[in-house]
Formats: sequence, C-alpha cells, structure tokens
Amino acid sequence: ANPVLSTKICRYSAEALREAVLLIRAGEPIAVPTETVYGLAADATDSHAVAAIYAAKGRPSFNPLIVHVSDIEMARRLAQFSPAAERLASRFWPGPLTLVLPVRPDSGLSPLIMAGLPTVALRLPAHPAMRALIRESGRPLAAPSANRSGGISPTRAEHVLSSLNGKIRMILDEGPTSEGLESTIVAPEADRVRLLRPGPVTPSMLAQASGLPIDLAQDAARIEAPGQMESHYAPSKPVRLNALKAEKEEFLIGFGLMPCNINLSVDADVREAAANLFAALHQADASAAAGIAVAPIPAEGIGAAINDRLRRAAA
Ligand code: TXA
Ligand code: MG
Repeated sequence: ANPVLSTKICRYSAEALREAVLLIRAGEPIAVPTETVYGLAADATDSHAVAAIYAAKGRPSFNPLIVHVSDIEMARRLAQFSPAAERLASRFWPGPLTLVLPVRPDSGLSPLIMAGLPTVALRLPAHPAMRALIRESGRPLAAPSANRSGGISPTRAEHVLSSLNGKIRMILDEGPTSEGLESTIVAPEADRVRLLRPGPVTPSMLAQASGLPIDLAQDAARIEAPGQMESHYAPSKPVRLNALKAEKEEFLIGFGLMPCNINLSVDADVREAAANLFAALHQADASAAAGIAVAPIPAEGIGAAINDRLRRAAA
C-alpha cells in the first residue's frame, strides 16, 4: 500500500513554483493548472516519477499519458513532425490541442508514457503556471488530468484535493481553468487528420488550419486512445441526459433560461457551458440528490465535446 502523504494547496507564486520544481526534480508528481483542466505532472524522462502518476490516479498502465512541453523545439526533440503536424502546432500552440506523433527513438521519454504505442501525445499548454513549471524544471512533463482514474476531471484546486487528498504532496492553485474541457487530441496523417478526442479546438478549426479532411471515426479512436473508454468522467450517481425538467430527487444542470439547480450558461453560450461543466458535475455529485439530470446542449462548436463528455458520464 502507498503511504498517506500530506497534501497541501499552494497559491501560485514564485516561491510556490520553486518548491514545485524541487518536487518535480525529486521525482514527485504534483497537481498544476493548465487552461483545460488541472494536470498531475511528473518528469516524463523518469520512470519512477511516471509510475507514481499511475499509482496516485489508480490508472491502468495500458492507458498512455500526454507529454507537455514549454516550446516547439522541445517537442521536435521528442517526436517527428510532418508538415501537417507543423501547421497544426503553429496555429494552435500554445493551446488546448494535443498531437499524436511518431516518437523519436532517442526521445529519452520513459517507455511507461507510451504504454507500448509507437507514438507519443504532445501538448504545448498556454497556462503560465504549467509552462513555467516545465521551463524551470527543464524537463518535459507527463500530465494526465489530476483525478482518480475514471472520475470527473478537475477544473479547480478543490476538485483535485477531494479526489487525490493523501496521494500527492502539492497542488498549485491558480483558480478555475478557462477552457474547462480536456484538450482536443488528433493524429495528423499525410492525407487526413484523425480526431481521437473532441475538445476546445473544433473540427472546422482543424480543417481550416491543416487544409486536410478531418476523420471523426470515433470507433477507431476508442481502440487507439485507450483512455477514451465508454465510461469516464463518471459521477457516483446515475446521469440522465437531455432532461427538460428534474424528476423527483434529481439535481438538474440547466442550459439557457430554465428553472434548475445550477445553470451552465443562462445566455446559452456553449463556451461558457464548457468552462462550467465539470464544476457543475462535481457539485451535483456532492449534493444530497439521488440522481443527476442534464439539459440538452447544442452540438455546435465546443458543444460536440461537451456532449462527448456527458455521454461518457452517463454510460
Ligand atoms: O487537456 C488535457 O489534455 C489534460 C491536461 C492536463 O493537459 N490532460 C488529459 O490527460 O486529459 P488524460 O491522461 O486524462 O487523457 C489523455 C488521453 C487518454 O485518452 C490517452 O489514452 C490518450 O490521451 N493518449 C495518450 N497518448 C496517446 C497516444 N500515443 N495515442 C493515442 N492516444 C493517446
Ligand atoms: Mg483524464
């Protein structure tokens, strides 16, 4: 059994960053905000550190991790960039896009990251805390979402604490994340871009930047991105979708003007709804209600990614 650690929340500051860097260099995973969700970060070149991420999350070892870099040069040392990959990186990095690319044999990455795949998932995040942590520790950082495997992703430091208290030493707190949903994951190929996980960067944005057709075949993606399992982001209560009103004992998560327990966006704005989604699910889960009902969310723009997460929460 793993020892129980004392977990502290530190408001992001120069001093907190210094302490975080020391922990990373000592091979400890720590929670850090990105613009999408809070990540559980550790040195991607140190197999002990990477193993500690899997242990803290209770994550199956066949589910590979995303590696975060602080600049494109660091990314090019880890993986091979095709022209399409270069176009996507120059348009969307730093930001909420993850590229799945052939890993270089001399990358120095722990093999645990790839979990046996010939590819590595790379992301250059926009959040200053995560970028500073990568730059100051001088290492690429592996970081899955900072929650127990299968649970709801954290968009606030308190969500991390309620899921990983006693499992990690430190949470860098920089308030609620701005995007609220995990990054879009794509595999760029010579003649098309395969979408492995929908997210803030939408298919039309990808098509415009790459000049290639976007392959939405989610069945293939499910096999290839093992984390894209059917049941995920799951609250502990039953979730009912497309609800227009609450049944008895249900907590209703609304959208647009309607009576409900919490509203994702009174103005019916899908971006605002994305930013609020996981906090609403955490709140519904912690409430006394027996079940969770969620209003219909339009599938336009980031709405497609919201519906993807809701479908898995309900599965
Ligand atoms: O926004 C995000 O992407 C957040 C923040 C922390 O960066 N991270 C995140 O990581 O969502 P995680 O571990 O919760 O999800 C990573 C997904 C999993 O579905 C995993 O299977 C997939 O990425 N993945 C990782 N490496 C892959 C690879 N080589 N090929 C295909 N899928 C991969
Ligand atoms: Mg996750």
